[in-house]
Amino acid sequence: MVAAGAWVLVLGLWGAVVGDRNITARIGKPLVLNCKGAPKKPPQQLEWKLNTGRTEAWKVLSPQGGPWDSVARVLPNGSLLLPAVGIQDEGTFRCRATSRHGKETKSNYRVRVYQIPGKPEIVDPASELMAGVPSKVGTCVSEGGYPAGTLSWHLDGKTLTPDGKGVSVKEETRRHPETGLFTLHSELMVTPAQGGAPRPSFSCSFSPGLPRRRALHTAPIQLSVLEPVPLEEVQLVVEPEGGAVAPGGTVTLTCEAPAQPPPQIHWIKDGMPLPLPPSPVLLLPEVGPEDQGTYSCVATHPSHGPQESRAVSISITETGEEGPTAGSVAEPGLGTLALALGILGGLGTAALLIGVIVWHRRQRRGEERKAPENQEEEEEERAELNQQEEPEAAESSAGGP
Ligand SMILES: *[C@@H]1O[C@H](CO)[C@@H](O)[C@H](O)[C@H]1NC(C)=O
Ligand SMILES: *[C@@H]1O[C@H](CO)[C@@H](O)[C@H](O)[C@H]1NC(C)=O
Repeated sequence: MVAAGAWVLVLGLWGAVVGDRNITARIGKPLVLNCKGAPKKPPQQLEWKLNTGRTEAWKVLSPQGGPWDSVARVLPNGSLLLPAVGIQDEGTFRCRATSRHGKETKSNYRVRVYQIPGKPEIVDPASELMAGVPSKVGTCVSEGGYPAGTLSWHLDGKTLTPDGKGVSVKEETRRHPETGLFTLHSELMVTPAQGGAPRPSFSCSFSPGLPRRRALHTAPIQLSVLEPVPLEEVQLVVEPEGGAVAPGGTVTLTCEAPAQPPPQIHWIKDGMPLPLPPSPVLLLPEVGPEDQGTYSCVATHPSHGPQESRAVSISITETGEEGPTAGSVAEPGLGTLALALGILGGLGTAALLIGVIVWHRRQRRGEERKAPENQEEEEEERAELNQQEEPEAAESSAGGP
């Protein structure tokens, strides 16, 4: 304890003599530290010692030179030269010199090194933002700096302070394993206020980790803010109109859900969601009996609940009777056979489906005897039944235009 105290006292006195000088030196450049009070030419009475990232404790440099020459060496005028400063040279350098008249002077340098990174850049900038919705503006990247420094964002010239609500920033600092230089990433998310500035301008700045070094700025990016449009109604458009198509034909179902941001569209067939990625268009190419059924779409909006369109029913028309328009003259045998099989298959499926539906509805009717819609449903059901079993009738009613 006593020894430690004495050591602190000695150090204190040592520092008190000249006071610290803080030096910043750029990595890779030479650095000269002067030994104050030393005679300009030999013979000199001086001693340089250093305690840096390269040393384990104080290291005294020999004026005669040696293995440390490539790192630091004493010049003829008594100054210390570091030919190319590195990150490991950060630390303390001291010189004690005695003048020709016997006066002792001490110099004490605290050396910190820096590297200026490349100009920061905003990568992956957004093209537009949505008012009221958290949106990513972009990622600011600064590469190759030392010490790490910081990145900050500005909106129309004013500093943006992350508050975790309207403004949030995700930061990442990486260090190059060999050079020891830093790469900073800062991803900005904002929630623009509704009715706010329509064309805000964002920029990013790198602030160095050392005082008196200049900040670096990105060019600003200007984004447009879209105001949200609520989802009013989900429309389902069928092509061909009416939903009746010849076997092998194509049906296009388009779900129109005009809203901002655009909702996600999923499809439902006969009450079951179709296992397809969300898309506003459902294309049924080469329609076969298995494609018949009732289709609807569901629009899911992040801020509202899901909203379903009306249901449309897709049915296969009987082309055998149409002759010329069907265009199946070339191979009538095969065509008719396929058609017959198709119809049989279709009828079988339809009968099964109808059986299930009728059974289901009967059960429901038993439960809610008074419900007035049941009347309508029953009629719809009959219409469906007719369509399946008497294709000619269905055609004349569906193929109006
Ligand atoms: C040198 O830097 C240290 C901390 O880094 C600070 O406490 C001290 O006041 C500085 N000295 C001078 C002379 O600027
Ligand atoms: C000693 O020499 C070096 C290199 O020639 C020079 O940069 C430095 O300023 C000199 N020091 C003094 C105290 O004159």
